[in-house]
Amino acid sequence: MYINNLKLENFRNYKTLDINLDKGLNVFIGNNAQGKTNLLESIYILAMGKSYKEHKDLELINWNNEELYIKTILSKKDREEHINIYINKNKKKTISINELYINKLTKLIGIINIVIFTPDDLLFFKNGPDVRRQYFDAQISQIDRMYFENIQKYYKIVKNRNNLLKNKNVSRETLYPWDIQLLQYGKEIIRKRNEYIKDLQDIIFDIHKSLTSNVENIELIYNKNVKEENFENELTNSFETEKKYGYTIVGPHKDDYNFTINNRDLKKYGSQGQQRTSILSLKFSEIELIKNETGENPILLLDDVLSELDIERQKHLIKYIQKVQTILTTTEFDEKIMHDLNIGKIFNIKEGKIV
Ligand SMILES: Nc1ncnc2c1ncn2[C@@H]1O[C@H](COP(=O)(O)OP(=O)(O)OP(=O)(O)O)[C@@H](O)[C@H]1O
Ligand SMILES: [Mg+2]
Repeated sequence: MYINNLKLENFRNYKTLDINLDKGLNVFIGNNAQGKTNLLESIYILAMGKSYKEHKDLELINWNNEELYIKTILSKKDREEHINIYINKNKKKTISINELYINKLTKLIGIINIVIFTPDDLLFFKNGPDVRRQYFDAQISQIDRMYFENIQKYYKIVKNRNNLLKNKNVSRETLYPWDIQLLQYGKEIIRKRNEYIKDLQDIIFDIHKSLTSNVENIELIYNKNVKEENFENELTNSFETEKKYGYTIVGPHKDDYNFTINNRDLKKYGSQGQQRTSILSLKFSEIELIKNETGENPILLLDDVLSELDIERQKHLIKYIQKVQTILTTTEFDEKIMHDLNIGKIFNIKEGKIV
């Protein structure tokens, strides 16, 4: 798949933008604070319905305006998809797909598949578990709408349950209806994460091996807080502790993902270079997995990452860039790097405009 056309109106520092993208590599060049990351963020929102940053929808609206539009025309193998997102300070956000308004975010998820790579990802392994959970949740959701729906329901249940637990006198009976739902959706989530990580492991192993001249065996481990079959028991046994803390301590909202290289924990022992190669392996595996699951190539979003990688790793990345539609931002047009690339279109961004 690829994005044909992208229109922005009053989205962050863009007053109006209307661009046609190339099927292959699109390079956006601009100094700091001109709108490069904002542009990628708008595409992420088209794919996932909301930002990957911890932002509220209203923050996306240009400071001097009341409403914003994000619109795209997407080309898939056998059809086109038109997606419009409208956010207003005083009205409900609306999303339409091919002119039809959707009532659930779930219907948007999976229409556009993306793999995004930003400099923040270089801290992926060092970061806390929430970052990894959020990342994999987004990736799994893109190929499984049911999962997306389950996750949303599950987090709502945890929130409600936590509110009840804040009351020191809460009884087991009060919690019971919530426990049932927590278990129901929680188990679905654990099952899917299990399956996904297994599939990804099969792919990442070979990719990482080839990226490291056959010397590194990578293993991706789903480090679950509780096993499906023990969930109910552990929840029952945790009642007193949960009451003391005032929140839910058992369940997949406490899961993490670990990586090992040749059986050693990457977070603890991996060098910076090994971590960087591993994150590349992870992103490439996501591309392959999406391709396998959907039959379409995802769109690759690269936010100023080339300059963060050494020549060897840049070369690997460039190889992938040539296979899928890529939207790459950079502050400087590095002749040495760009020389090897088959560039479709180049855009210069200045103050939220293409110049
Ligand atoms: N809601 C908004 N309305 C208007 N401007 C905004 C809004 N949100 C963010 N901006 C501005 O958009 C500008 C561009 O941000 P962006 O992150 O896209 O820059 P960038 O080109 O990626 O820069 P860098 O190279 O430093 O990463 C910032 O200066 C920011 O202040
Ligand atoms: Mg940026």
